[in-house]
Amino acid sequence: MIYLDNAATSYPKPEKVYSEINRCMREYCANPGRGGHSMSIASGSAVLEVREIIGAFFNFANPMQLCFTKNATEALNVAIKGLLESGDHVITTSMEHNSVLRPLKTLERDSGIELTILHGNDYGEIAPEDVKKSIKKNTKLIACTLSSNVNGIVMPVKELGKLARESGIIFLVDASQGAGSIKIDVNEMNIDVLAFPGHKGLLGPQGIGGLYVGDDVKLKPIMQGGTGSSSENLYQPEVMPDILESGTLNTPGIVGLGCGIGFINSFGIDSLKVYKYELIKRLHEGLSEMKQIKLYSKNDIKNNSGIVALNVDGVDSTEVSYVLDKAYGIATRAGLHCAPLAHERLGTLKTGIVRLSVGCFNTLEEIDLTIKAFNEIVSSL
Ligand code: ALA
Repeated sequence: MIYLDNAATSYPKPEKVYSEINRCMREYCANPGRGGHSMSIASGSAVLEVREIIGAFFNFANPMQLCFTKNATEALNVAIKGLLESGDHVITTSMEHNSVLRPLKTLERDSGIELTILHGNDYGEIAPEDVKKSIKKNTKLIACTLSSNVNGIVMPVKELGKLARESGIIFLVDASQGAGSIKIDVNEMNIDVLAFPGHKGLLGPQGIGGLYVGDDVKLKPIMQGGTGSSSENLYQPEVMPDILESGTLNTPGIVGLGCGIGFINSFGIDSLKVYKYELIKRLHEGLSEMKQIKLYSKNDIKNNSGIVALNVDGVDSTEVSYVLDKAYGIATRAGLHCAPLAHERLGTLKTGIVRLSVGCFNTLEEIDLTIKAFNEIVSSL
């Protein structure tokens, strides 16, 4: 199979991810932070080590500023619902995933927040000047994706972070697409809150994600429960990460995520980015020669996190994806990609989009076979 659905979840994973999850489950998967025995201490140390790896990867010094979640959606809900109150104004973009839009729209409908949704250029890219013009006295949050999950466009996060910092507004970045492909430095980019999944570009397993929360940001917990700390207290501890991290952690997922990031570090994120862009460039160029194909992604390394989004004239996106799978063994995603306003912006709300998303294990040979498959599909029309 040629797997081109890495934006949904990366596959395969580095060998060490599989082997360490297996070793953890068999040898040291006691409850981290809940017991004084050796195995619990071993699992607790493994979790702490991964907090440190993630801190170094995103450049924050205190590993306790990270809370683990089950995925980016949970992290985004923890951030958005923990932060906003009636009367707060939020600026976001039409390229957001439903994991940002739905919590915000729900708070707008039920809890009296104000929402401004900015529409960018033809690719959905937002201009920082438009964000600046939308700032009001009560703007509390700018929430922006690092890169669109529909067409891979990369948002000007560094510029938005600077603007947010200068304006005293909290800056939340959804790094679901782009973490593992684009270098993220929360200090340099002035990111206050960063949500990320473990199973996409970071090459970990499904079921693990995280939320970085800057020192100056206070989030009300949306969930309460056991933390293994201050157990005499009937209220949630106020310290990070315990305030946001109730219940037994996903230790196997966490160590798997640590190995995924370790793999990225062993090559250097910039080398992997260049390699993935080689694949994207070849794919984009090959497909752009076919006049029956409309492309929705940019073809330059700065503006594409690893996605080629397209439609074939007159053919439903789900049908194209089906033929790619059944006749050619190529895995892609079609239809709407949980980002309705992005489809509206790109004009694909009715047709959906065929999304080809590369990962670091794809090869140029696979890309050539994919181009060949598209050549055959369009020739048969
Ligand atoms: N959000 C994931 C995607 O874009 C699942 O496919």
